[in-house]
Amino acid sequence: MPSNAELLAIALNVARRAGEVARQRRADGVEVAATKSSLVDIVTQADREAENLIRSAISAARPNDGFLGEESGGGEGTSGLTWVVDPIDGTVNYFYGIPSYAVSVAVVEGDPDPLTWRTLAGAVVNPVNGEIYTASAGGGAHLNGERLRVKESTDLELALVGTGFGYDAQVREKQARILVELIGKVRDVRRIGAASLDLCNVAAGRLDAYYERGLNPWDHAAGALIAREAGATVGGLGDAPASAALIVAAQPGLYAQLDPLIQAAFADWVL
Ligand code: IPD
Ligand code: CA
Repeated sequence: MPSNAELLAIALNVARRAGEVARQRRADGVEVAATKSSLVDIVTQADREAENLIRSAISAARPNDGFLGEESGGGEGTSGLTWVVDPIDGTVNYFYGIPSYAVSVAVVEGDPDPLTWRTLAGAVVNPVNGEIYTASAGGGAHLNGERLRVKESTDLELALVGTGFGYDAQVREKQARILVELIGKVRDVRRIGAASLDLCNVAAGRLDAYYERGLNPWDHAAGALIAREAGATVGGLGDAPASAALIVAAQPGLYAQLDPLIQAAFADWVL
């Protein structure tokens, strides 16, 4: 079994290389290659190229591991480890030239299901500003090599809270209604457009909290570990771990104030 540090080195290496491809392709000009779950859910050639690079590099380094990627889907392994990959998180930002997108690479132990997996290592790379977030289970979280720690817990009314919206218009409307219940109780809200970076922003103290419903496993696998290793509390719906149903990440004291409000707001929304 490789150490978490060895796994992190692989995650970091492939995420950096894929980030460089994405940045270069963006400079060359981006076009939508296809739409997915809805007309606004897009994939570019760069998403595919970045994921292919990551997938082949990982299969060369770790041939017995499984793979779960946003663009190329899953592939079972025999080692008990699976790489969970978002080649470009924040694809719409990428398409519009907003410099908040990232490559997210994590490796998990167990079934590739956020409700049961254990994340061993993860890297989130923003190739535009060169910020590299890393974490390994029990090894702490780092930004460009500097140890990350969440800020002291903020009071709810002073909390800057990040969130996101899905690609389905009806889901987005429900998410907006939930936001209406929360926005008057906190300092303000940010919708940055890349879940992996939202979670890293909690780790780095640039957001006090973040929540979202509807994330895919690759959106949060690496970022949730980075937030947790920086000292944030990360949870899901009710007592369950973070999953598509809900992810909430916050400074521990703030989590205790915010999470009950978020749980109550989502209680009427039957999945
Ligand atoms: C999306 C982003 C966005 C979040 C969406 C995700 P993508 O991922 O992380 O911030 O609100 O739920 O689907 O499509 O840009 O990889
Ligand atoms: Ca994503």
